[in-house]
Amino acid sequence: MLSLEQLKSLCGTEQLHLLAHWESLTQIQRQGLADQIAQIDFDGIGQEMSLQQQVCDWQKLAQKAEPPEALRLVDMSHESLVEAIVQGQQAIASREVAMVLVAGGQGTRLGFELPKGMYPIGPLSGRTLFQMHVDSLRGAMRRFGVSIPLLVMTGPSTHEPTLRYFQENANLGLDPQELMIFEQGTMPAVDASTGRILMESPSSIALSPDGHGGILRALSKTGWLERAQDQGIKHLFYAQVDNPLVRACDPLLIGLHRLGQSQATTQVVEKRFATEKVGNVVKLDGKTQIIEYSDLPEEVAKQTNPDGSLRLWAGNIAVHVFDIEFLKRCSSSSNTLPFHRAHKSVPYVDQHGQEHTPLVPNAIKLERFVFDLLPAADRALVVEVLASEAFAPVKNAIGSPTDTPETCKAALVNLHRRWLVNAGAEIDADCLVEIHPNWAWDEQEVQARLGKPIQIHADTYFT
Ligand code: UTP
Repeated sequence: MLSLEQLKSLCGTEQLHLLAHWESLTQIQRQGLADQIAQIDFDGIGQEMSLQQQVCDWQKLAQKAEPPEALRLVDMSHESLVEAIVQGQQAIASREVAMVLVAGGQGTRLGFELPKGMYPIGPLSGRTLFQMHVDSLRGAMRRFGVSIPLLVMTGPSTHEPTLRYFQENANLGLDPQELMIFEQGTMPAVDASTGRILMESPSSIALSPDGHGGILRALSKTGWLERAQDQGIKHLFYAQVDNPLVRACDPLLIGLHRLGQSQATTQVVEKRFATEKVGNVVKLDGKTQIIEYSDLPEEVAKQTNPDGSLRLWAGNIAVHVFDIEFLKRCSSSSNTLPFHRAHKSVPYVDQHGQEHTPLVPNAIKLERFVFDLLPAADRALVVEVLASEAFAPVKNAIGSPTDTPETCKAALVNLHRRWLVNAGAEIDADCLVEIHPNWAWDEQEVQARLGKPIQIHADTYFT
């Protein structure tokens, strides 16, 4: 444990209040607080807060935003799709691809007490979000005859339960050698008016995960990027745990990434309406960037093309392919990813031991976002996909208007129903269907499985 003198020197005069209760703490509490202080990037926070006046003015910048240069579905010929899929399949089969699932968020909106990855989402099977992703990945392994490494990023509140969950469930069938569960870092909440770090109790700092962009720092700490390169892994397929519609290691996306010699590729969907709550993928100052919906002025969001379609049409669904070489370059500099600020109400204890529960936002939480890697790439690619085939996130609690467990389950059933119907099945309107990737990983495998037309009159789980 660091000595009190060392801790004081880390805190400096600006953050010395973190040690205000030191004398009254037990040895264990001191150890805990010292560990937290040792993890804090005081310089980064100091710099960030001193730049307060220079916060990026997205509202102004957004006026210049243009639609991204994207591979749109209507422009892709059958031949070019086949060529890309073959490229992607070759990359996977030669063990050049790994997958990362980010699952470090707190899942506040869903209101589920366990990590979001443990939420049961299979419409008939009740498989959890973690299972859905791992099953899809194992489907890809079966299809391409290789083992694909999986990385799972957890956060402070999800790490232990996630580790236990994988252990108690035989790693969901994955080879433990090919699975790495690693924890992302945290950032302290900072008083919005003074820049002082807030204490959640006399012995602990108010910390929260440092955003999905924390993957860069957390991953480089594990040394995985170097190990991966030594093993010949070239691309990292990135997905979020809350979207079970993602096709693990989508060969088409990986193939387009390779053919386009892209360093960072992102999958997008056409926004359903101008103010839809998804990040907007745009071209700004010659770079592919994402403007959050909250930063995009309504009049800009509502701009249309002569045919009435949205000018800024591309919605981020947080499915990316990154080159390992590119990630290594980005991780060698601490400020590749800027901090984003969120004003939040954060309860805290002051230096006199008084507890405060503010009703209005009093604090700034600093988070990094993974999509800020896009403008850092020399070459970034944007690829359109149909939302009905790739995007149904679980964000909000049952009964909310959008992005709920119900909407996600309905999207899964609809997708699998379409695959079956296209393969000649007749399904009663009120029947639910679900396909396990062991039975068929994609529409092509459904066609091969069915062979002849069938009729489905009851809920059916194909497994
Ligand atoms: P969200 O921003 O939707 O957050 O994360 P969340 O934690 O799932 O839900 P809320 O906002 O608290 O209700 C999108 C994805 O990024 C991951 C989440 O686990 C989810 O897969 N994430 C988010 C991280 O891994 N780390 C973070 O710090 C934040």
